[in-house]
Order: sequence, then structure tokens, then C-alpha cells
Amino acid sequence: MYQTLLTTLENNIYTITINRPDKLNALNKMVMEELSRAIDEVYENDEIRSVIITGAGAKSFVAGADISEFVGLTVGEGKALAEKGQGIFMKIEECPKPVVAAVNGFALGGGCELAIACHFRIASDNATFGQPEVNLGLIPGYGGTQRLVQLIGKGRAIEMLLSANMIDANTALQYGLINYVVTQHELLEKAKSILLVINTKAPIAVAECIEAANAVYNESKNGFLVEIHGFGKCFGTEDMKEGTTAFLEKRKAEFKGI
Ligand code: COA
Repeated sequence: MYQTLLTTLENNIYTITINRPDKLNALNKMVMEELSRAIDEVYENDEIRSVIITGAGAKSFVAGADISEFVGLTVGEGKALAEKGQGIFMKIEECPKPVVAAVNGFALGGGCELAIACHFRIASDNATFGQPEVNLGLIPGYGGTQRLVQLIGKGRAIEMLLSANMIDANTALQYGLINYVVTQHELLEKAKSILLVINTKAPIAVAECIEAANAVYNESKNGFLVEIHGFGKCFGTEDMKEGTTAFLEKRKAEFKGI
């Protein structure tokens, strides 16, 4: 189905593995198009409740956009590339189902941007994060300048953006860029164990939490109003009736996503 991605669906968790290990999983045009299609599938397929994005091989999550495709681009083509990439990563950020990055090695440039477009991140202890675009005479183009500041604060983000320095997994943990550091062996299991818990929750409530949290960073939205709308919307769901009734009846709720 995909040439540059491996996908599996198990226990309602869809795992997307970017599969170009010989190029450290660099994001070329085909990877970006296939990633976009895979995310569309996440939106459309009711069997998918949550998502893990990771990279193939033991060395790299994603070592950036494919630099070989930058050669000879015009100003207009550069802008179009960034616009397209931002659109795809925005679709990940706005996905109503949780998307977790399981960072198994280098997360550089577009790889760091992909990780920070996900809802949260878990990394293996060999992971490194960086925005080395200034080494190429470039800046991040897939949302990195914005999301890095949002996640780790302006001072730390600007130092990373301007110096191109890489940070290791423990520093990323200290910065709040990632939520956990585990061994590479434990990485996917850790991501799955968290998602299995989230998958037992009411899907509409999960989606409304994501939308409200995202609104914090969207100047065109008032997050408090988004929260009011989401809170109210939940009262119209079967799952809210089930959740509150189950609590009062001292039993486990069975959510249906309606
Ligand atoms: N785009 C295209 N190809 C890439 C790539 C990228 N972003 N990152 C790695 N590759 C390719 C290399 O060209 C090499 O291909 P080759 O075997 O055909 O020569 C292969 O992946 C392995 O990379 P290599 O550089 O040999 O591995 P390394 O262990 O010596 O170094 C890195 C690893 C990550 C430090 C180094 O590959 C690197 O700096 N990559 C670019 C990172 C970057 O600037 N990303 C931002 C892009 S906007």
C-alpha cells in the first residue's frame, strides 16, 4: 500500500514506520505524500483509535527533509514546499485521535518538526534532537520555529535554532520536549502501553481535549470558548451518559465513541 512507510494496526493502535533506513528516514516527496495519505486514513478509519509514528532501523527517527531535493529550488518553490509540509504536519497536530512520536534515534530538522507536531513524544536513550537547518543556510519550514518555542520556551528554542546544536534524550526530557526516555527495546511498548490506556477513554472527550489544548496556540481561537463548546458537546454524547452512570453504579465504563 505504501512504498516508504510500514503500517500495522493492532489493538486499535496504528503504527506508522517511516522506512528509508539507508537515508536515515529522510523525508522526501514520496514519504511526505504517503505520510499525508496515512494520516487521512487515521481520520477516516474508525478502527484506528490512536497512532504511533516512528522510524525504521536502530539509528534514526527522521534525519530531516531530504536535502537532495532542495538543490535548485526557487524562492517560490521553497515557499510552496514549506506550505505543503506545514499542511501535512498541521493535520497531525489537529488529528482528533492521539498521535505519539516514538523517537528511536536522530530527530533532526524535519524529523524534529515531525516529532513536535505529534501530541507528545517518547524517546529512546540514543535519541538526539536538533534543528540544523542554519548549517544549510536555511530555517525550519514545517512549523519548527513555532512549535519548538511553544514546547520548550523561546530562549532554549532560539539557542537550538541558531546554533544547530543537537541535544540528547535526557536534555530533551529536562526541556519538556519529550515525556519519557526508555531503552530502544522498550520504546514501542512504552508508547503502546500509554495508548492502550487512552484507548479505553471516551473518544469524543479525547478529541475535544486535543482541540482545546491546541487552541492555546491558535490566535484565531479563544481556547476558553473552545473548552466551553467541547464540554457542552460531551453532554450530548452516549459516552458521557455511560461514563457518569458507570461511576455511580461503581462499574467500569464501556465507551462506544458516540
Ligand atoms: N537528506 C538526505 N539524505 C540524508 C539526510 C537528509 N536529511 N540525512 C542523512 N542522509 C543520508 C546520507 O546522505 C547518507 O546517504 P549515502 O549513504 O547515500 O551517502 C545516509 O543518509 C547515511 O547518512 P550519513 O551522513 O552517512 O550518516 P552519519 O551517521 O555519518 O551522520 C547525521 C548522521 C544525521 C549526523 C548526518 O546524516 C546528517 O547531518 N544529516 C543531515 C541532517 C540535517 O541537516 N537535517 C536537516 C535537513 S533540513
